[in-house]
Amino acid sequence: MNIKKSFFGVFGLGVMGKSISLNIAEKGFSLSVYNRSEEGESDIVKNFLNANRFFNNLKGFSDISDFIDSLKKPRNILLMIKAGATVDLVLEKLLPFLSEGDIIIDGGNSHYLHTKRRFDLLKNNGINFIGAGISGGEEGARKGPSIMPGGTKESYDAVANILESISAKDDHGEACCNYIGPEGSGHFIKMVHNGIEYVEMQLLAELFALMSKFMDYDEIANVFEQWNKGGLSSYLLDITIKILRKKEGDQHLLRLILDKAGNKGTGSWSSKSAFDLGIPNTMMSSAVFARYISSFKDSRIELSKIRKHDNTTVENLDLKILKNAYQFARIINHHQGFELMKKASDTYNWNLSFSEIARIWTNGCIIKSDLMSTLKSVFEYNAKILKVKSIQEKLISNEKYISQILRYGIDLRVSLHSFGAAYNYWVDMTTENLPANLIQAQRDFFGSHTYQRTDGNLDNFYHTNWN
Ligand code: 6PG
Repeated sequence: MNIKKSFFGVFGLGVMGKSISLNIAEKGFSLSVYNRSEEGESDIVKNFLNANRFFNNLKGFSDISDFIDSLKKPRNILLMIKAGATVDLVLEKLLPFLSEGDIIIDGGNSHYLHTKRRFDLLKNNGINFIGAGISGGEEGARKGPSIMPGGTKESYDAVANILESISAKDDHGEACCNYIGPEGSGHFIKMVHNGIEYVEMQLLAELFALMSKFMDYDEIANVFEQWNKGGLSSYLLDITIKILRKKEGDQHLLRLILDKAGNKGTGSWSSKSAFDLGIPNTMMSSAVFARYISSFKDSRIELSKIRKHDNTTVENLDLKILKNAYQFARIINHHQGFELMKKASDTYNWNLSFSEIARIWTNGCIIKSDLMSTLKSVFEYNAKILKVKSIQEKLISNEKYISQILRYGIDLRVSLHSFGAAYNYWVDMTTENLPANLIQAQRDFFGSHTYQRTDGNLDNFYHTNWN
């Protein structure tokens, strides 16, 4: 009987799937959950239901047909599964059971072009597909994530109530979830979120590398704690303080963690899309490459033996330099990320709202910060970050600090990939004449690629016989 059927289904009870299911159940929606019973996962559904017996709006299945049958039509199903080929396999399995008007939401970190392909595939079968970026990790999924859904507005409206109920809330109590735009736009936005996240993490790692030369972990944590009270506050700074203080016995746990950074791909996708769209996201790619370099641990051990660090002349760090350089680099990072989204929006006609994206990112997600709240207001006036007078003034007054932090990096032999990228970007963007005239001449010399002239009509292209 229809009346007993669930309003919503969650497919996949991994860490995130379980947490978001409990979040949904807690909000009072009738919910069916599914997890396969093969490959060592036989008891997952049973254990989940047992552990959460007090929810009487929760049903569990390990048979796809029973799961689908338990859902009210048109069905709303959230996939909480590994991004990549698994999504295609699951869609293939689900399709025979679905009917016209059903809505499938992919809540994983899928590539936005895959989302577009899946959107078209399901559309041809009369099924609606929503690619929803979900940020906030396990805790966010349980208590309120930031949600970035892309697809048709109609299908979003059909599930808006549930997505907005389970999401985090901003300062004004509004849901950190809203319709982003068509097709793969939600997953694109989540991908850029992660690219910005990579840089925010890398900047903190670079500061940590410098500070570790002079301070112990607790002292660094104390400095970060001070910063976290002012305009620099952010979720990532907050967890970094906790990480620095975490001990196992009398040892700092961080000392025991191998210095090889992993990644699941979204940072490199972001950087690749910046290359494809012609947007200089130099900070994102610097952060991705810094992770890649770290992963070459064996080579690093070998080469470290041939290059011992000389004594340094730096006697102490001026923390004011670090703090202001950090503020500078974070602004450039966010500027580059939003420029990438702007270009994608223009190229794909997504009509993205940047104040809304910034607002959705003010809570629930990994890159929530005071700066994000400021940017929300900046974008309300439709301004580009670098065109805002107060931000320009901040960058100009902090330029001396970012050049000083780079000097620290050289003197202490600490690589500052992302701080360096921020500085170079700013210098180039505020320089009228760059040496690109020489590049153009070289291109014309060996490849007759032509060039424009400063004394000519810019619509004309010239070639010189250089020999
Ligand atoms: C989030 C995170 C989440 C995940 C990253 C990790 O917003 O909740 O970004 O999606 O932790 O994908 O990515 P890496 O493994 O590539 O660092």
